[in-house]
Amino acid sequence: MSSNLLDKFEQYLLNNLPQSKTFHPIFEEALQDMLKAGGKRFRPMLLLSVVEAYSELLVDNSMPVALAVEMLHTYSLIHDDLPAMDNANLRRGHPTLHKSFDEVTAILVGDALNTHSFNLIANAPLSNDIKIDLIKTLSSDGGIDGMIIGQAIDCYFENKKLELNNLEFLHIHKTARLIAGSLKMGAIISNLSINEQNKLYDFGIDIGLLFQIQDDIIDETCSEEEAGKTTANDSNKNSFVNLLGLDEAINNANTLATKCENTLKSFDENLSKQLNTILSKYLYRHNKGKNI
Ligand code: IPE
Ligand code: IPE
Ligand code: MG
Ligand code: MG
Ligand code: MG
Repeated sequence: MSSNLLDKFEQYLLNNLPQSKTFHPIFEEALQDMLKAGGKRFRPMLLLSVVEAYSELLVDNSMPVALAVEMLHTYSLIHDDLPAMDNANLRRGHPTLHKSFDEVTAILVGDALNTHSFNLIANAPLSNDIKIDLIKTLSSDGGIDGMIIGQAIDCYFENKKLELNNLEFLHIHKTARLIAGSLKMGAIISNLSINEQNKLYDFGIDIGLLFQIQDDIIDETCSEEEAGKTTANDSNKNSFVNLLGLDEAINNANTLATKCENTLKSFDENLSKQLNTILSKYLYRHNKGKNI
């Protein structure tokens, strides 16, 4: 990842915030609030890094697609924090949207960011064939084959203990598929073969599962200030920490991290270098919750 790819994305995001110019007094502000609040931008960076590794000249044309992925992810966070779901007060170091505004506004902003993400892809300066593939991927991995069914299982099975394989299914769907889809979308833009797209997607599933196990560890071990979001909030949830205990969750994360590092080494040198920069920044090895 070139050092300025994240800066470039942040600038693009600020220049392309969704707008709603009407007499509604607060809707536009609410629409932009959580996007402007920050976040790691993990998913758009994965997408853009694949494009940068294989077809640097397409990075600018890919910005609307990277923003679409971040927008869909941001909608999922706004809805995830609602009282009916995780009932959280803090997100990205700011009050959650339903706290800053109200529940109706948070629901509708989520709806708007979801639909607008597809509008962004449809209008991106890319070929129609590529855009259809991108829309298929985002709607599937961020939709009923991915994030949505994961969230549905997560909430339905609160206070009902899942078997470990079903917990993995839950985490893979709610988190890993959108992360895998982000890598695949970079591969689609770069015109990689189906085989190469699938290789990146499968790697993304491992990375995404690791990401969610680490997120479960963060809920257990980090303060709200450290995490920038409500923590100690998973007690009724099927989380890795709740099912296996903290030490075993950390062991699972570290084993998966080793597997991911080995897969990364098998990729083209350029891609491996790009992804390694992001992954070493975002994915940590844990020793009882402390990054080492
Ligand atoms: C939080 O996602 C929700 C999970 C899937 C764990 P991130 O940890 O990527 O949140 P931001 O985008 O950095 O705020
Ligand atoms: C949410 O998982 C994943 C989404 C699809 C939004 P969590 O509920 O664990 O995410 P955090 O911990 O609130 O960020
Ligand atoms: Mg949740
Ligand atoms: Mg949550
Ligand atoms: Mg969590």
